[in-house]
Amino acid sequence: MNKATVRDIDVNGKRVLMRVDFNVPVKNGVVTDDTRIQAALPTIKYILNHNAKLILMSHRGRPKGKVIPEMNMDPVAKRLEEVLGKPVTKLNECVGEEVKKKVMAMKPGDVILLENTRFYPGEKKNDPEFAKKLASLGEVYVNDAFGTAHRAHASTVGVTEYIPVCVSGFLIEKELKELGKMLTNPEKPFYAILGGAKVKDKIGVIDNLANICDGILIGGGMAFTFLKAEGYEIGKSLLDPNLDRVKKIMKTLSEKGVILALPVDVVVTDDPKGEGTSKTVDADKIPADMMGVDIGPKTIEKFSSLISMAKTIFWNGPMGIFEVNEFATGTKAVAQAVAKMNGVSVIGGGDSVAAVKEAGLSDKMTHISTGGGASLEFIEGKELPGIAALTDKEKLPIVM
Ligand code: 3PG
Repeated sequence: MNKATVRDIDVNGKRVLMRVDFNVPVKNGVVTDDTRIQAALPTIKYILNHNAKLILMSHRGRPKGKVIPEMNMDPVAKRLEEVLGKPVTKLNECVGEEVKKKVMAMKPGDVILLENTRFYPGEKKNDPEFAKKLASLGEVYVNDAFGTAHRAHASTVGVTEYIPVCVSGFLIEKELKELGKMLTNPEKPFYAILGGAKVKDKIGVIDNLANICDGILIGGGMAFTFLKAEGYEIGKSLLDPNLDRVKKIMKTLSEKGVILALPVDVVVTDDPKGEGTSKTVDADKIPADMMGVDIGPKTIEKFSSLISMAKTIFWNGPMGIFEVNEFATGTKAVAQAVAKMNGVSVIGGGDSVAAVKEAGLSDKMTHISTGGGASLEFIEGKELPGIAALTDKEKLPIVM
């Protein structure tokens, strides 16, 4: 990437305004998965070790521009203090006189965490007034919120209009390196495993991967639209309204010689909550009154065999209704197969990351992305606005 990083600038004694993605799960006021906090630590520590004053900001959840107390940043501040081993001053606002006063009184090594940026309607609207007020808190801006880099919000894009030096942190640098390498120079064969409920979310990804991959393995709710396109009856399984688009994609894959691996058997049920009757059937024998909720054992074998032959794997999306233990077998088996393969494995966001973690296989993967939507948009080949807004390396001597 030709964007400047925190390594390229001098932060000594400066007020560093840093956007992080601390959109982490919280239960009963306690952070239940601190992966995203841990992932930002290298940059946070680097900045503090270089004698700077650090002002952190993030969103959490989708409070729609209103103050929702359950979505405040208090649990995050507490967890950050624990992992950082030093006090974090949590403020109850992002902008205003009180905030300004506290920020101006900071000493090198101090850490402030602002309140949830999405408590302000100006955040999602990328309102210039709000962005300007946020920007006034820092002398330099660091963005390490890869998970939010696909959002053009005040704290990810707007602020960069008002701070001359805007650089990335080490997390963004690492994400772009790993995901970028996979797209530009993957070791072959390269197979992508895609799952999840919605075809819509993955259309652009398949379009782009069709030019790069040797094979695409499809499971999860989205597989049933592909099976329907193949001419199978899919009972009450999920069917995307855009069947024609799927048919077109299948034609493109076949023209390009990309393997399309679909389920050959599936677990069907009359109750997706796992309280009814379930059985495994061949993909062409889905009963009219049942829905597919997981891949079956023959598909697990077929997918695992393809995965074992790959040198590069990208995986996004569960193979079934992963939240229901009974329908999580396919997803867990895919996690095991990816862990065993001998090559580069990149896991992009959401339930596939949860499956890998639950199975204790995280350290067997080459790269686990902290971005769900962001990693998908990157793989689609889209420009991420939060990254595009950062200062180019070549321009750095001029703006500093
Ligand atoms: C995420 O969890 O994917 C990011 O934090 C972005 O959140 P959003 O989808 O609510 O913008």
